[in-house]
Amino acid sequence: MVPPLSEAMLDVVADALVDKGYVLLSDIIPQEVSLALLAKMRAAAIWEFEPAAIGRGIDQQIDTKIRADKISWLDKKDAVDNDYLQLMEQLREGLNRRLFMGLFDYESHYAVYESGAFYRKHVDALKGSQNRILTTVFFLNPHWQTDHGGELIIYDEDDSQLETVPPRMGTMAIFMSERFPHEVRESFATRISIAGWFRVSHATHGF
Ligand code: OGA
Ligand code: MN
Repeated sequence: MVPPLSEAMLDVVADALVDKGYVLLSDIIPQEVSLALLAKMRAAAIWEFEPAAIGRGIDQQIDTKIRADKISWLDKKDAVDNDYLQLMEQLREGLNRRLFMGLFDYESHYAVYESGAFYRKHVDALKGSQNRILTTVFFLNPHWQTDHGGELIIYDEDDSQLETVPPRMGTMAIFMSERFPHEVRESFATRISIAGWFRVSHATHGF
């Protein structure tokens, strides 16, 4: 069981999304939960993770010139994953209540960037595809050093650099999926993140 996200925290996220479309947070995930996620990843068999693909459905392909991370999807049947998913469920409900975003579900994966890995500049949702609406990225890297690189760079719609986010333990970035191109700079140490997407349902937004 996870403690509830505070109303104050949900207000901060909602207000930032209205004001500027993104927010960087350092205290949204309780430390017990991030430490459990980290412990799980330290014990994980990374070689069983899948090479991350780009595109969806039949267009999916693996292109290691674009991204070179390895991923594993969270599963609510796993107790540690479920705690994180519960928190994201609270975020989903809190944002829907405040902003009527119609967020319908959430999918997320762990991503491991081994030394030398990166993810070139991209957007998570193609304009008008009305699928991925809001992106979350959560970092699980204690003792991250500046020379480890691996920053998440967030650009604005005109492609100027808005934020340079070191992937430090406990940091979460939340941004509107189709508005913000972003990239993961080459990492020089093993870098672990959880990327996730709140989606709307085509059935209710198909007009
Ligand atoms: C993604 C992504 C960023 C990160 O998976 O789409 O942009 O820091 N991830 O893991
Ligand atoms: Mn992305």
